[in-house]
Amino acid sequence: MTTTHADLGVIGGSGFYSLLTDAESIKVETPYGNPSDELAVGVLAGRRVAFLPRHGAGHRFPPHRVPYRANLWALRSIGVRQIVAASAVGSLRPELGPGSLVVPDQILDRTWGRPSTYSDSDDGVSHLPFADPYCPTGRSAARAAAASGGVPLTESGTLLVINGPRFSTRAESVDHQRSGGTIIGMTGMPEAALARELALCFTSLCLVTDHDAGVEAGHGVTHAEVLATFADNLPRLRELLVATLSKLPPEQGDCSCGQVYAGLPAAFDLP
Ligand code: ADE
Repeated sequence: MTTTHADLGVIGGSGFYSLLTDAESIKVETPYGNPSDELAVGVLAGRRVAFLPRHGAGHRFPPHRVPYRANLWALRSIGVRQIVAASAVGSLRPELGPGSLVVPDQILDRTWGRPSTYSDSDDGVSHLPFADPYCPTGRSAARAAAASGGVPLTESGTLLVINGPRFSTRAESVDHQRSGGTIIGMTGMPEAALARELALCFTSLCLVTDHDAGVEAGHGVTHAEVLATFADNLPRLRELLVATLSKLPPEQGDCSCGQVYAGLPAAFDLP
């Protein structure tokens, strides 16, 4: 049991740790096992922020094995109520090239076999709204952050989440485009849905690292290309992230994320 507290959570790579001052590493246990790694908690933009590398030390958890339930639970259990999650994605649109930053507003979930809910007992269920999967307050903080820093930002789009760990075939990729996906990734779900179940504000910042296989008649996506483009653009993503955190309200905002259980039976006790 830790007494360390944070208000804001950041889920993303270890490339963000150096942003924190006075960082303290804390180990948090949850009913869903251990999170991907210890939480690094410190001060950023005048706020108490907890960082969690989604894939753990040495990038050990592949997207389908990330302990998403433990990660979100751990963050909420130390006080976090607003989360900004950063990820690398492919583009399903020719006009959206590598290096683009996108704040999605919709999700197409094509994952399977991942523990994707905290409602996994026979104690009843709350059917929560998820029509708008992301926090409107967080998305407008990201928009304001981009505008004030002069950072080009695609302010909406549909994130299609595949199970991975392989990339899509060209035919699958064309199908994903026809389905309405704007960008494609492997980690966006069940992360966003679990955040909603924990009544958290959840905002996704996506960095485009490649055109997916069906968009360009090239060689197809490679992991090396994703890593190289991510590294090249990390400073811009960090800049947008810090500015977004500084524009989040001190408490959960006017959105309904924190009141998602109003009038509904809760199937489990929130941490
Ligand atoms: N992450 C980065 N690029 C991706 C792609 N093309 N498909 C799925 N996940 C990705």
